Amino acid sequence: MAPAFGWTTFDVTSELPDYWQKDIDAATTGADIKKFPRTPILSREAADVANIPRGRVHAGEVKRTLPWLYDFYRGYFLELAGTTCEERVRPAVDDRYGVVLNVQRGTDMRFECHVDSNPMTGILFCTDHPEGAGGELVISNKPGATGVAEIEENCSVIRPSAGQLIFFDGSEHPHYARPLSSESAMRVVAVMNFYTESRPESTRPPELNRHLFGPDTSPGR
Ligand SMILES: [Fe+2]
Repeated sequence: MAPAFGWTTFDVTSELPDYWQKDIDAATTGADIKKFPRTPILSREAADVANIPRGRVHAGEVKRTLPWLYDFYRGYFLELAGTTCEERVRPAVDDRYGVVLNVQRGTDMRFECHVDSNPMTGILFCTDHPEGAGGELVISNKPGATGVAEIEENCSVIRPSAGQLIFFDGSEHPHYARPLSSESAMRVVAVMNFYTESRPESTRPPELNRHLFGPDTSPGR
């Protein structure tokens, strides 16, 4: 039997600044909320799903409005990430995708079924969602699963708890975030891309950047 999906959890609440949730809350007012088209290469949505409504606070906004989070990504969280991996772990050099916020409001949004392009992902849960409230991170135990129904058939379920930071390799196991069960609820996570020596940032597909950021005009890339 193939092993189920695995991850590592750290409770970082005591290390975060007192105002962290207030700050995150304020940052979400600038979230880009829309129907996002399927992500090229990485999407694991069912064939009939063209887009998925959700919210994103882009990396540039995170750097500007949540400087402590940007620093944690390159400092303390990076250190913790390193303890979960035999290889040296690095943050993204490219500030366009290092750390972002994913935001869900109400019952219509969820996060896309996908795999990650990076070998290690860190997720800091910023909101609490008790049993029955939805918003769980659901990861297929089977690498080949496609679409919500197939992922749900055999999966690991992580219920968000504010201040918990998890690390995992999501490059093989499709995952998504369930919708919330209340119209007034909001789910926020900070998502961080990490790289390793054997799977460095240069392995990120250029097509993904073109899809997310448009044609590349920056020098040297
Ligand atoms: Fe992911």
